[in-house]
Amino acid sequence: MKMDVLTLFPEIITPALQTGILKRIQESGELVANIYNIRDWTTDRHKTVDDYPYGGGAGMILKPEPIFSAVSAMEPTEDTDIIYLTPQGIPLTQPIVEELSLKPHLIFICGRYKGIDERVREKIVTKEISIGDFVLSGGEIAALVLIDAIGRVLPGALGDFESAHEDSFSKDFLDHPHYTRPVEFEGMKVPEVLLSGHHENIKKWRFSQSLKRTAERRPDILENLELTDEEVDILKDFDKN
Ligand code: ADE
Repeated sequence: MKMDVLTLFPEIITPALQTGILKRIQESGELVANIYNIRDWTTDRHKTVDDYPYGGGAGMILKPEPIFSAVSAMEPTEDTDIIYLTPQGIPLTQPIVEELSLKPHLIFICGRYKGIDERVREKIVTKEISIGDFVLSGGEIAALVLIDAIGRVLPGALGDFESAHEDSFSKDFLDHPHYTRPVEFEGMKVPEVLLSGHHENIKKWRFSQSLKRTAERRPDILENLELTDEEVDILKDFDKN
């Protein structure tokens, strides 16, 4: 998978790609990530990337020409997704992350100021993605969120490949609680079942905790699912206690 990030602030993105899983996955060759400064595709003496909005109003707009030239230099093919990060995009979810992780080439366009000239969105952007209903000062942090989420599901990203597909959202429910040593900390004990060595009971406990947590914190997730009789019974049991 190749990722090309187009930004006016490479310094926001670069350090995150040199750390942890994203660093490892690049070293393994599974991911090639390049960061480019849009300014490098300006042609005037002042390296102008933005201009006043037609029609007036506050704020500056990123000019179309440098972005068109930069994207073209990335040599996109039919299989390339060209992603613009914006609060107006489709809300990011794990299924979108997994879908994008299968693409051979992604180009991220990070906006700044009031936004980018609409013709970039019309002509070259293939997907607009939002990371939530709030406004960031630019697309860089949103691009990083997406790059991180995609990076960790690429083959070989996690030592234990299974675990990326086992956690919250990958199997519909939120993750169950986790504990490590010591067995007692400041009077708080690890649940007995986890110490029992009884794998079947541990699995059941984890599953029911996942379900309970989802019902408590994200009832909207359960509303969109057909629960099995067993799952309904588990939730009824929690209600009684
Ligand atoms: N750019 C500014 N705010 C954003 C958001 N919430 N999601 C994606 N890109 C953005």
